[in-house]
Amino acid sequence: MSEQREPVGVIGVGWVGLVTAACFAELGHPVIARDILQEKVDSLARGEVTIHEPGLADLVRRNAERLTFTTEMSELLDSARLLFVCVDTPPTYSGDADLSRVRAVVEELPEGSEHVLIMKSTVPAGTGEAIRRDMPGLSYVSCPEFLKEGTAVADFMHPDRVVIGADPGDEDAAAAVAGLYEPLGQVLHTDVSSAEMIKLASNAFLATKISFINEIANVCEEVGADVGEVARGMGLDERIGSSFLRAGIGYGGSCFPKDVTALKMLAGNTGYHFQLLTAVIEVNELQKRRVVGKLEKHLGSLLGKRVALLGLAFKPDTDDMREASSLVLAARLQGEGAEVVAYDPVASERAGQLLASVTLTGSALEALEGADAAVLVTEWSEFAELDWADVARRMARPLIVDGRNFLDPTTLRAAGFDYEGIGKVQAAPAAAATE
Ligand code: UGA
Repeated sequence: MSEQREPVGVIGVGWVGLVTAACFAELGHPVIARDILQEKVDSLARGEVTIHEPGLADLVRRNAERLTFTTEMSELLDSARLLFVCVDTPPTYSGDADLSRVRAVVEELPEGSEHVLIMKSTVPAGTGEAIRRDMPGLSYVSCPEFLKEGTAVADFMHPDRVVIGADPGDEDAAAAVAGLYEPLGQVLHTDVSSAEMIKLASNAFLATKISFINEIANVCEEVGADVGEVARGMGLDERIGSSFLRAGIGYGGSCFPKDVTALKMLAGNTGYHFQLLTAVIEVNELQKRRVVGKLEKHLGSLLGKRVALLGLAFKPDTDDMREASSLVLAARLQGEGAEVVAYDPVASERAGQLLASVTLTGSALEALEGADAAVLVTEWSEFAELDWADVARRMARPLIVDGRNFLDPTTLRAAGFDYEGIGKVQAAPAAAATE
């Protein structure tokens, strides 16, 4: 009765791959997804989703009969013509993108393959051209992914834009990919190199906005202004826009740090020094460390002080710890001799593997009990619901640095806290600092 939709192949079942597979299945396509990790494939085949991404586990279970997971490339090649490459491209020591996993995929394609290779992995501009040169006759389409962790399913289903890059000769392949996305929204057709640059430039621009507002925040602290008000006023100018102007303790995650550096390196490899991105990266690194100074202002030396970190993941609604600001902050605090305790609603397990000698607790209250200071690192909604007057009584000293400007300063101060935000009017230095 229902027409058979075009089968879709997905190579690499990480965050992007699994969301892509599950969403195309939801749109009615038979999907075959391949990963090299047998364990991952087995657990997905049982309907077990190990990453924390709202709505994703439901989608995988609901579409189980349209979703096949395998480790065998041949199974994938036999079942689908359209192959989405979703393997990761982590940074190398030099900061360039590591394309070895992408290359391994290309090498697995048979000579004279009639498949369409659709690149979702973030790759430097020029990668598609190089692959086409190595594999003449291969149909190649660049289709960068713009989804955000935490809202990935909604982002896939309601994209701002779908970018499809293809070079002359691959018009049919581009049309086939556009057909898949037709129900979802606006498609921008362009060439492969421009599509690759759109992805890198978009992430680099968003990271630039964050570093910019973080520097404005630092100046606000000096002149007695409030960065929240400044961002609100700036955002009303529609040329600026209000999004990505939340000041905090720096951006993290698997994308911004890697992609900003990769774009800087890509430019550098051509002989062009991308000065602005050098500053964006440096500002972000320094921003993660500024919390230490704020604590010292109130506590003096941090030696032997117990500091509770609230949240560890790089942002809420994910358990992803990659490039999380908490990692740098915890190390800096320990470097100053502080005892660090931490709580995250979902990332503790992943964090445990990365944060040696940080005590992880099962609740926020446990972390805060007897602490000399708290730092809000990730804006999980449950932290807004804490009874802060009760927390103030349980802490050795009611001091909080709100690294995401997430809590209400008036409530916190009424509860007895010394409250420090980012880019806000500064609290008076407490006596201990001058003792
Ligand atoms: C980012 C992009 O937003 C996606 O469009 C892109 O597809 C993705 O990278 C990718 O390349 O795969 P993501 O890393 O999931 O998505 O997270 P974001 O929500 O963009 O947040 C990134 C970081 O910036 C977080 O640490 C967040 O706390 C921080 N941030 C964000 C701020 O500090 N201030 C803001 O105003 C916004």
